[in-house]
Amino acid sequence: MDKLKHVIPTKEYEQQAIDYINEFYEYNSKINGVGGLYRFLDNYDGWLEKLEDDRKSILSEERAPSETYFLVRESDNRIVGMANIRLALNDRLKKRGGHIAYSIRPTERRKGYNKVNLYLALLCCQEHGIEQALLDCNKENLGSAKTMQALGGKLQKECYDDNEHCVFQYYVIDVNDSIEKNKDIYEAMISKEKNHS
Ligand SMILES: CC(C)(COP(=O)(O)OP(=O)(O)OC[C@H]1O[C@@H](n2cnc3c(N)ncnc32)[C@H](O)[C@@H]1OP(=O)(O)O)[C@@H](O)C(=O)NCCC(=O)NCCS
Repeated sequence: MDKLKHVIPTKEYEQQAIDYINEFYEYNSKINGVGGLYRFLDNYDGWLEKLEDDRKSILSEERAPSETYFLVRESDNRIVGMANIRLALNDRLKKRGGHIAYSIRPTERRKGYNKVNLYLALLCCQEHGIEQALLDCNKENLGSAKTMQALGGKLQKECYDDNEHCVFQYYVIDVNDSIEKNKDIYEAMISKEKNHS
């Protein structure tokens, strides 16, 4: 399998990032874990500034500090996915969103990329001292639920959402335990070269 890495967004990726979001519109797919990029398609520099603010923000009911990464395939430097990792949770994120949001572009799905994306996100959680990662998803989103389960996610509860008219599942991943148990599988799939530390 191609090696993947998490890359901090930079100007160099501007056109690729716009293409990434446009591919979701083209395939009429849900967008997730992109740090609001779809609101900045005509202001990429503004988005890079927003990510800086996100990184430095202080936890409040309105905001939470977060990191956003591109998931980049080493062989052709293509953005194949994205992840947004919340470094602390307010009540709103505890209710919906959790620590990690993610996506894989429609033309690169079902290749196991999101499992690597989540493994890399768990490494980021570990770096930031998050021990129990909370994640949630629509029960019908099998690709997301199975990703969480594959990385050791334990189902905590299921709740019907009156607004979205669907059942949401809440998973918890013990970060250190998951990394320890899965490192033999995923360390071989990630590039050691990283631009964040
Ligand atoms: C959910 C998503 C990230 C999955 O990405 P992906 O790269 O296709 O996932 P992977 O290939 O790593 O597969 C992970 C697991 O889910 C399974 N899977 C993936 N898509 C699936 C689908 N549509 N139906 C059933 N199973 C699916 C895979 O078989 C794999 O299971 P396994 O471990 O038993 O083999 C992708 O579909 C996506 O970006 N969706 C839109 C955004 C989104 O919903 N984000 C999550 C919000 S909670």
